[in-house]
Amino acid sequence: MANNTYSFKIYAILVLCLMLISCQSDKNPNPSKSAASNQQAKPIVLKEAFKERYRVGTAMSLVQIMGEEPDTLSLVTSQFNSVTPENSMKWERIHPERNKYKFKASDTLVEFSNQNKLFLVGHTLVWHSQTPDWVFQQADGSPSDRKALLETMRLHIEAVAGRYDGKIQAWDVVNEALNEDGSLRSSKWHEIIGDDYLEHAFAMAAKASPHAKLYYNDYNLFKPEKRQGVIRLVKRLQSKGIPIHGVGLQAHYALDYPDLNEFEDSIKAFAALGIDVMITELDVSVLPFPDEENQGADVSLNLALQSKFDPYPNQLPESVELQLAQRYMEIFSVLNRNAKLIDRVTFWGVHDKQSWRNGWPMQGRHDYPLLFDRSLKQKAFVKALPQAGL
Ligand code: XIL
Repeated sequence: MANNTYSFKIYAILVLCLMLISCQSDKNPNPSKSAASNQQAKPIVLKEAFKERYRVGTAMSLVQIMGEEPDTLSLVTSQFNSVTPENSMKWERIHPERNKYKFKASDTLVEFSNQNKLFLVGHTLVWHSQTPDWVFQQADGSPSDRKALLETMRLHIEAVAGRYDGKIQAWDVVNEALNEDGSLRSSKWHEIIGDDYLEHAFAMAAKASPHAKLYYNDYNLFKPEKRQGVIRLVKRLQSKGIPIHGVGLQAHYALDYPDLNEFEDSIKAFAALGIDVMITELDVSVLPFPDEENQGADVSLNLALQSKFDPYPNQLPESVELQLAQRYMEIFSVLNRNAKLIDRVTFWGVHDKQSWRNGWPMQGRHDYPLLFDRSLKQKAFVKALPQAGL
């Protein structure tokens, strides 16, 4: 019953929002321009609209960081108050070889975000993906043992997190360490160092960057078993006095995925641990998911393009845009209702063209998962999001 009332409220707000939009376009003397004027209706400023609730962030790609998309840069500074590098601080980019660091992009982003007073989240120090093979080998090419790998981890964290202490406000220290059942994922980190590798990573990050908030970040954290895995992890660190300040739920979602009640339960459960809760990589795919078994964000998925999985190559039909609007309203109802528990909501990209969902889990598709379209226009439904669920 409560759920029905709730869906009705969302639906009512949505209808109201669409009526408002069409009223605006009715004022347009040229009806053929009404669709365009929908797009031109004054956008809301996300960071203002949500300022009393949570930060609103976006991931920035390398070309954006390097200033090669000036329009996107002004959108970032006008709309968002937090940024995360989409790839530029990952191990393979910033530390591609044992004795070679590449700090150009990260230095540029640090300067940009400090100048514009954006809350910068470093992403990420320890992950099984986008990490070069040499990390798990000794200098002579033989496989690393526990001691050698811990030393490699320490040098990396000191060099990267240490370089930016006081300039990067938070780090995703460890990314995706858990299996779907909440147990520790069997990565090279786990295999070589053992169960306590996360504890070492967090302790090293705290030492290298004492001013940064330190987070654990993962996908599918709405799942009850995975949620329990995070709770065990956080409690273990807390009981050992190792700092952990928050948990990030990635949130690579779709029109019918996941169950938002479970999402809400996880937000509440993580907040009850006395730590920050963030939504760190929000996007909502409108495309059919080609591998039902593996929905989530397993970056190793790479399926061959089939046109039946790319149904909207030119533009998104209005009926599907309405479904996207409805889904975003449902997600923001959860976020707005729990605003006191949430520190930040970050979208995984500024606009649809940039989104990694065009290339994952299948390359070459056309997805529409973000709040700004391919020409950087704010989507019409966005203005209703601040009221969702209230
Ligand atoms: C993705 C990037 O968006 C892509 O450009 C890259 O090719 C692969 O990684 N979970 C994470 C992010 O924590 O770092 C991933 O980003 C998406 C899934």
